Formats: sequence, C-alpha cells, structure tokens
Amino acid sequence: MIEFILNDRKIRTDKPSGLPLLDFIRYEQSLTGTKIGCREGDCGACNVLVGHLQDGQMKYLPITSCLTPIGNVQGKQVVTVEGLNMEDLSPVQQYMVDEAGTQCGFCTVGFIVSLTGYCLSHSTPDYKAAIAAIDGNICRCTGYKSIERAARHITNALAGKDTRETVDWLVERKFIPPYFKEIPNMLQTIGAENGGQKNGVLVGGGTDLYVQKHDQLLDREVDLVANHPNWRFITIKNGVCTLGGATTVTDVQESDALQTLFPRLTQHLKLVASSPIRNISTLAGNFVNASPIGDLTAFFLALNAKIELTEDDKSRTIFLKDFYKGYKDLDKTKGENITAISFIIPPANSHFNLEKVSKRIHLDIASVNTAAQIIVESGVIADAHISAGGVGPTPIYLKDTCAFLMGKPLTPELIRAAIDVLQSEISPISDVRGSENYKRLLLRQLFYAHFIKLFPNQISLEVLA
Ligand SMILES: Cc1cc2nc3c(=O)[nH]c(=O)nc-3n(C[C@H](O)[C@H](O)[C@H](O)COP(=O)(O)OP(=O)(O)OC[C@H]3O[C@@H](n4cnc5c(N)ncnc54)[C@H](O)[C@@H]3O)c2cc1C
Ligand code: FES
Ligand code: FES
Repeated sequence: MIEFILNDRKIRTDKPSGLPLLDFIRYEQSLTGTKIGCREGDCGACNVLVGHLQDGQMKYLPITSCLTPIGNVQGKQVVTVEGLNMEDLSPVQQYMVDEAGTQCGFCTVGFIVSLTGYCLSHSTPDYKAAIAAIDGNICRCTGYKSIERAARHITNALAGKDTRETVDWLVERKFIPPYFKEIPNMLQTIGAENGGQKNGVLVGGGTDLYVQKHDQLLDREVDLVANHPNWRFITIKNGVCTLGGATTVTDVQESDALQTLFPRLTQHLKLVASSPIRNISTLAGNFVNASPIGDLTAFFLALNAKIELTEDDKSRTIFLKDFYKGYKDLDKTKGENITAISFIIPPANSHFNLEKVSKRIHLDIASVNTAAQIIVESGVIADAHISAGGVGPTPIYLKDTCAFLMGKPLTPELIRAAIDVLQSEISPISDVRGSENYKRLLLRQLFYAHFIKLFPNQISLEVLA
C-alpha cells in the first residue's frame, strides 16, 4: 500500500509501485491539469512539486511526474496545478496572464508549478534563481520573453519574503492556498518507507529507466531505494567522503561540505539535465546506466572514486574506473547494487575542473565531456586523474595520459605533448553528436581548457595554440 498526500487529500493506493506518478494523477485521480508532453523528462509539462519535511519545515522540489514511480512519493506531498488553484489567480498565475506568458497553454501548468516551487524555496528571492527554476520547462509558443517578464514580477512580489516561515508568508499573500499550513501535521501520520518490493527492477530516480522502459514498468512492483536513508547520505570521515548510491545530483549540489571542496560545483552540476531531473537523478543510476557520456560518471572518475557493490549481506569495493568492461558491460552481477561511492578528500593544493560540450548548454547530453583532478607541487605534476566521455564505448579514465603527466614539470610543452597520448587511448565514432574528428578535436580543446582554467599563470590559450 502506498500512502501520500495529493494536494490536500490523503491517498492510499494498492496500485503497483512502478506506476508513473503522471498516470496515477491523470487517469486514477482525473487531475488532468498535469499534461503529458514528451514522457521523456524534457518538456516539463508534467512537472509537479513534491514536498517533504526537512528539519521541521516543508521543502518542495519540482520533479517530472512522467519518470517518477508512484512508490517514490510514499510519505510525501504531491502538488499539482489543481492544488494551487484558489478563488482568484495566484500572483504567479496572474503575472503569467498579464505578460501573455501563455498562448496555447499546454506548457503553462508546468511553468506555474515550477515558478511556485521557486516561491516556496527557502532562499532569498532572486531573478536568476527564478529563471533557473524553469530550466526544465519548454514552451513552443511564447518565445520566453513574456515568461521571463512574469518571472521578474514574481521575484519583485516576493520582496521581503520570510525565508523561514515561507509557507505562512505565501499563504497570507495568496500565492498558495491555506491548506498548505496543515501539511506538516498530515505528513506526520504517514510512514516514509518506500512502497516497493525487493527483487523487482531496481529504480533510483527512474530518469533513465522510465524513458526507455516505461511500458514494462507501469504495472509492476519495483525495488525502490531513492528514499532509503541507508542509500542516501553524504558523510566525511577520516579524510574520505562517502555518498549513498541513491544520493541525488541535487543532494550533491546542496551539500555545504562538497561546495567547500569543489568551489565550482554549482556551475558544474548545472550542466547536468534540468532541476526537475537533478532533483531525482541518482549517482548510482548514472554509473549503472553506463552511458559513455554520463556527466556524474566523468566527475567521479576524475576523483578516482570507488564504488561499493552489495548483494544480500556481501559487499565488495572496486574503483569506478574498473567498473566498465565494454559498451554497457559492467563488472557487476545481476543481484549486485551500488550502495555507496567514496573518494579520498583531495588535498588543499588539488585542482578540479569539469568541461562539457553539448549542442545546447542546458538540458542536453554531452557530445564530449571530461573532468580533471590535478595536484601540482613545486611546479611538478604530483598527481593527475582525468576522465573523458563520448570518445569511446564507455566512460574513460585516461590512465596513459595521467601516467604521462605525472612527475613532469607543468609546462605548455608538456600539455601539448600529452595530446598524442590522449588521442591514442580514445576511440570515438561518428554519430549524431559529431564526427570522429570533431570529437577528437573537442577533447583536445577541453583538455587544454582544464589547464588554462586551473593554472592561468602557467598555461594560456595563446601559448597552447
Ligand atoms: C531529460 C533528461 C536529461 C538528462 N540529462 C543528463 C545529463 O545532462 N547528463 C547525464 O549524465 N545524464 C543525463 N540524463 C540521464 C539520467 O538523468 C542520469 O543518468 C541519472 O543519473 C540516472 O539516475 P536515476 O536514478 O534516475 O536512474 P534510474 O533510471 O533509476 O536507473 C538507471 C539504471 O541504474 C540502475 N540502478 C539505479 N540505482 C542503482 C543502484 N543503486 N545500484 C545498481 N543499479 C542501480 C537501474 O536498475 C537502471 O538500470 C538525463 C535524463 C533525462 C530524462
Ligand atoms: S511529459 Fe515531458 S517532461 Fe514529462
Ligand atoms: S504556450 Fe504553447 S507551448 Fe507554451
């Protein structure tokens, strides 16, 4: 039995835990405001807010309901556009109307939900954050300018928002209906344990599985790990950072400890998908999907991370770089799951960078990506871990290139000479994302970019060109 709150109503359902939330909302509850656009996480027409209690306060995140198994909202509140409607339009709805931010209207509910999610966040209102909140919403009609103007008005209307008692503040100003105040008490009466079943297909966020296998999962019980505290955590102990396999990209992005370790973390992770996808995408899902262009895989390969594989009560730990044996061929038995990822905390003199080139900057997968962790001591490269994606059948740890760099003085000549080694250990193919030659050229440029960004005093574009 799965229990959650849908807007202001408690739901108890014996539907299979793999049923997409979108189907439940529309076909079982007849709440047809939530639209079906792409069913692939791209358009945002199906966006809903999911709220849960965190440190005594409600935290709301937008997610794509088309890719979310219903079992993943166990113990949470789901807010659809119907749950935002009041007698009069909310300021978010009214500004969209005033600025002609809606034309055919198909995308509009998704925008309203995402922008209301922005209002509900506990951060200080900021126009850039309003725009970032709709990074997963696509509109084919408006040209976006009208929606951007609405976002600016909404931000202005939030001036003076109480960032601690946000819900009360928003209810008073009729951004959201009064029932929102009752939700924390209602949630106390529902258990948060996932409604999945062991031995079904293991689902993290579902953002890969539901794109590919939606039809095969909708009437199945699935094995859900996304809400399990043993699978979703970030700890730092004895110089090692460990993350649960079901830790989401947003969890990583919001971690103060990781922000301190990687000052450009937000910039890097904003290149991954969109907010609603990052809110549910797990690290293990990215690794096991084994896409040669997985961005999180590139990130953790460059940290020389290890993964813990567990089956029943047996666990083993291997380097992530040894996980990939061939195209979608993994060092993993059918029953093994990734329970944790760990990496040694980089020393203070370590430098980290991630580069990604895709056809669009946001909400697009990479043509080529790469990450690098480099330590330079007294002008000499003391340690180097560099990854590359999109240039072979698997995500690649550039072991020969790293070995070539190590122990040598950091000079433009060395970086240029490393390119021959780099080119010898990749095998890109021509496909829709570019020709083989283009990908080779891209990786060369991105490899240069690591050094230009990380060591601007020693390496510049001019000296490498
Ligand atoms: C619109 C859109 C944009 C995207 N953009 C990007 C992007 O920019 N960059 C990028 O890298 N990816 C992108 N992705 C891909 C996807 O979001 C990521 O790969 C994500 O990290 C997958 O995680 P998940 O939890 O959703 O995986 P799921 O779909 O839940 O699972 C994927 C696979 O991993 C398995 N699995 C999940 N968890 C575990 C575990 N703990 N142990 C063992 N097996 C497990 C599942 O059984 C399944 O085989 C995008 C996807 C969409 C839909
Ligand atoms: S229907 Fe397009 S993102 Fe879900
Ligand atoms: S108004 Fe038509 S898709 Fe946005």
